[in-house]
Amino acid sequence: MRRDEQVRVIKGLMAHLDQGTNVDAGVIRRVEVADYTSPERAALEWETLFRNHPQVIGLSGDLPRPGSFLTINDFGTPILATRDGEGRLRAFANVCRHRGPLVETEARGQKSRFSCPFHAWTYNNTGALIGLPKGDHFGEVDKSCLGLVELPAEERHGFLFVHPKAGGDLNASALLAGLDEEFETWDFQSLLHIGDDTYQTPMNWKPAIDTFGETYHFEKLHRDTLAPIFHGNVQLYDTYGRNHRMALCIRMIDLMRQMPEDDWHVTMGAFPVYYLFPNIQVNVGANTVTLVRVYPDGAAPGRSLSRVSFYARAEALAANPEGVRGLSQGFAEIIRDEDYVAAASSYVGAESGQISHFLFGRNEPALHHYHATYREALGLPPLEILAA
Ligand code: FES
Ligand SMILES: [Fe+2]
Repeated sequence: MRRDEQVRVIKGLMAHLDQGTNVDAGVIRRVEVADYTSPERAALEWETLFRNHPQVIGLSGDLPRPGSFLTINDFGTPILATRDGEGRLRAFANVCRHRGPLVETEARGQKSRFSCPFHAWTYNNTGALIGLPKGDHFGEVDKSCLGLVELPAEERHGFLFVHPKAGGDLNASALLAGLDEEFETWDFQSLLHIGDDTYQTPMNWKPAIDTFGETYHFEKLHRDTLAPIFHGNVQLYDTYGRNHRMALCIRMIDLMRQMPEDDWHVTMGAFPVYYLFPNIQVNVGANTVTLVRVYPDGAAPGRSLSRVSFYARAEALAANPEGVRGLSQGFAEIIRDEDYVAAASSYVGAESGQISHFLFGRNEPALHHYHATYREALGLPPLEILAA
């Protein structure tokens, strides 16, 4: 984050604390509960936002060196991503050209050849078919036409973007919208991957995004966990195209008032949480970054999957590996045990049929923006403003 923006964020949070105010969406909006529970809507989302929309599949640290690979099968197209011999990100449909099974079944590792478990057709990390056993018995094929299907892939500011359709339109800079410049300053590409977690939750995928979108709940839901560390119900909020950035308020900000401005760093008093449309949360701490990818889990609207990946700055990890890992894991457990438990409970309420709408308050602007852009992407009319 640029220096002047860091100062603006910290001073903005201090001003809210001084005045007892918070960001203000200006109105209360209401959303139909059916947005979360409708199977037809879930099918439309799956086609529009997952099967046919660019996806962030991780950070550069997930493919740390030439010969690294990772596989993902969360959004309808099984992906094999590699870092080729020149260090370039490549992405392929992880689908054997013989009869279709996943070619690589490990989640990640170092490997420059991928051999299909069925009959051992073998591909290299640029997707070329380099061998098939008993070719004289199988019959003659043109190997040059039977490489893995290559998908558009781009690595930008440490993010790995893939389009799930061959020939799909992928422009990472355009997807980052106004965040392109800010992401350059974070040096996300040097982060080390230190672990992963997966949460399957009985709720629609959108409440997982919603729960990241406000700090109104900190003093109740996170009373014993986050509330001692953060001032609840205070944040800054900025939008960048369909994306946004929230700046949560760390209580340490109170001590920054005594420090010269030149010694400030934004992460002392603020916790930036970036949302990248449609399903990514990037939580930026002083020494750690937690990337959360949220997906529907199967066709039913009432199941979701969160892939949580942990990254750390090399110096911090070297100095205190247990501390850094503990911090990341602890943060994720709060999401799992508090946020997602509450969100799953609200899904029970949604399915009960007893209420027709949920409400987004003036102090929850991220929810207004997320649902506005989500609806626009699906060609739906805007959310209703609640009559005063
Ligand atoms: S299906 Fe992959 S080698 Fe036969
Ligand atoms: Fe929360």
